[in-house]
Amino acid sequence: MKQTSKAISVYLAGVLYILMSMNHPMAGEQKGESDLDRRVTELLGRMTVAEKIGQMSQVNADGDKIPGELRAALKAGEIGSILNQVNVDVVNEMQRIAVEESRLGIPLMMGRDVIHGFRTVQPIPLGQAATWNPELVQKGARAAAVEAASTGVNWTFAPMIDISRDPRWGRIAESFGEDPYLTGVLGAAMVKGFQGDDFSQPGNIAACGKHFAGYGASESGRDYNTTNIPENELRNVYLPPFKAAVDAGLATIMTSFSDLNGVPASGNRFLLKQVLRDEWQFDGFVVSDWASIEQLSVHGFTANDREAAYEAASAGLNMEMATSAYASHLPELLDEGRVSMAELDAMVADILRIKFRMGLFEDPFTDPSDYPAIANEGHLAIAEQLARQSIVLLENRNHTLPLAKEALGSLAVIGPLADDPYEQLGTWIFDGDPAISQTPLKAIRQLLGDRVSVEYVRAMETSRSRSTAGFDEAVQAARAADAVVVFLGEESILSGETHSRADIDLPGKQNELLTALHQAGKPVIAVILAGRPLTLGDIIDDVDALLFAWHPGAMGGPAIADILFGVEPPSGKLPATFPLMVGQAPIYYAHKNTGRPATPEKFTHMDDLPVRMPQSSWGFASFHLDAGYEPLYEFGYGLSYTEFVYSDIEVSDSKIEMGEEITVQAVVRNEGRVEADEVVQLYVRDLVGNVTRPVKELKGFQRIRLKPGESRRVSFVLGPNDLAFHGRDMSLITEPGDFHVWVGGSSNAELQTAFTLVAEQSRSSN
Ligand code: BGC
Repeated sequence: MKQTSKAISVYLAGVLYILMSMNHPMAGEQKGESDLDRRVTELLGRMTVAEKIGQMSQVNADGDKIPGELRAALKAGEIGSILNQVNVDVVNEMQRIAVEESRLGIPLMMGRDVIHGFRTVQPIPLGQAATWNPELVQKGARAAAVEAASTGVNWTFAPMIDISRDPRWGRIAESFGEDPYLTGVLGAAMVKGFQGDDFSQPGNIAACGKHFAGYGASESGRDYNTTNIPENELRNVYLPPFKAAVDAGLATIMTSFSDLNGVPASGNRFLLKQVLRDEWQFDGFVVSDWASIEQLSVHGFTANDREAAYEAASAGLNMEMATSAYASHLPELLDEGRVSMAELDAMVADILRIKFRMGLFEDPFTDPSDYPAIANEGHLAIAEQLARQSIVLLENRNHTLPLAKEALGSLAVIGPLADDPYEQLGTWIFDGDPAISQTPLKAIRQLLGDRVSVEYVRAMETSRSRSTAGFDEAVQAARAADAVVVFLGEESILSGETHSRADIDLPGKQNELLTALHQAGKPVIAVILAGRPLTLGDIIDDVDALLFAWHPGAMGGPAIADILFGVEPPSGKLPATFPLMVGQAPIYYAHKNTGRPATPEKFTHMDDLPVRMPQSSWGFASFHLDAGYEPLYEFGYGLSYTEFVYSDIEVSDSKIEMGEEITVQAVVRNEGRVEADEVVQLYVRDLVGNVTRPVKELKGFQRIRLKPGESRRVSFVLGPNDLAFHGRDMSLITEPGDFHVWVGGSSNAELQTAFTLVAEQSRSSN
């Protein structure tokens, strides 16, 4: 059956090629692809079963020596990929054994987690998402790819495009946040940055979209936990970023550790076959997560490794990471006919196809001298630019910021994260080098020069310390200074894989430190370095200004210093909602309306509830008695040193027909005194749907720069796909009806207009 459909698709591809070659300039590429299919088929035809299964095995090998057993396995052609080897000499030797000593000479995929930079660490992905700048994110991925490629790495396990709506989840740090559209745009940008236009060119490495799918919805934000996501929600929220990455040419996909609706992802035929292959026609390959095939049995989905191998292979999972269920059990599963040779061939062909596309058969070796120096000025500049644009200004009372350098005599710099080159790097920094880091303290001193005295007190040993022993010294420094900048937040180990938190307040005694500093009577500017949104409601009254800098990477120091002193105004916008209280999680702007939406009139805080309030005045709306129904800071929020005013929203037509585009425009004016960037955001609401639609959905954004007094008409085009959603029968549909549109500087945008989408006949009858 599969063979037949393959034959049909080869035939159709042939017809398409003839048609395209008549008038299409890219016809050569089609030819290249069919050559590639021929090469794959020819190679497959010469492979033994052991060699085929070998291609499906990925082995962890991070030592500086190649153990004898591994050497023998490489020679026997029993390994398709290595992970975690970054010593270029060892990489080259492994490739040499694979291509020169094995029978068929198939080169290796060398995988590594290149998550936010390589040696030059950039802001964590959640911070990169706060830039809302796909071009810059693409440049960052490019720089990371070039550095990684110079060590022989040819495959990164990034981008992570899991929608993350729960700040307790430690891996939210690795994600682009809560929104499918923003995550899709940035994920696609990263894929293009890693892979380039033609990923056989030097410096381009294969990307891996992960974790397919739904990992971010782990119950209670606890890592690896169960996920239950209705199919409609999965299709409208969790899958679109993966589709966007596939459309951008994504080479590989990693399955999630998690159980999705009772079927763990690594054995999930619906995800891996129906969605990925049948619906999306993905022709790259799928790798498991670390041991996630064997863990199918731990989930209770299979009884043993053999059944786990059967389920994973039957779902079409191409390559097993780190464990050997495939190597041990696929031979017998083939013998028994439970896995067919055609299925095996199809899985191996996907892997070979990527290896051919990557040009590995032409040259698998790496000569570091072909590459620019690692951590070169260009790469540092990109890391700094990403950090600068990622910083979000959350509060700025009485224009405390920017600090005027000229008016400042002395500055107190306080806190455990002010001068810690390691902690500012954040999670997943295998290859990062803290020696490259420029800390905020160092950068502030450099920027201020000798004229301003800078007194530094660490005050707490780590962000988690419960000792207040250093507080007095910090308060004294604060009293003696004209202003206080305090660097708080989370150490890097408090976010990332396995590192979820149930309480997302500032850890340790940080809140007390802030209160003590506030009482010193000087302006207090808090800069938070963290891997997730935190609950900051309790500290707001103790600070005059609040900057959220995420884990900003190696160049975080200069980026933060520039923002503090107004060299560049802040322009980051939140990619994830900041709750008021952790109990609100999961909390996100694109929620459904419910049948009883809360309004200010309907809500009474529990402190204001009279005793024995009559039931008739309860409000009967969807809120928490203590937290209300709003977050502390909404998605898309971020202040500037200037003020942007939005006006004159209009649509090109108040009625459009199915299939037509509509243009939405609004005027943005810089009414302040400094030139600055603003991220202009477009939101849409589909008022009625055959499944209920979110109250707002991001559908476009643009980062623009305006001089003081300058205004610009910003224009967005909404096409039919932008209004489409998966309906009750799961198909992608667009329905006639009314739509609201907003343009503004956050998801709380108020400037609104509307249009109606009509079925063709109803318009002509008008
Ligand atoms: C993580 C993946 C990662 C892999 C390899 C796993 O624990 O979940 O995201 O790519 O390890 O390091």
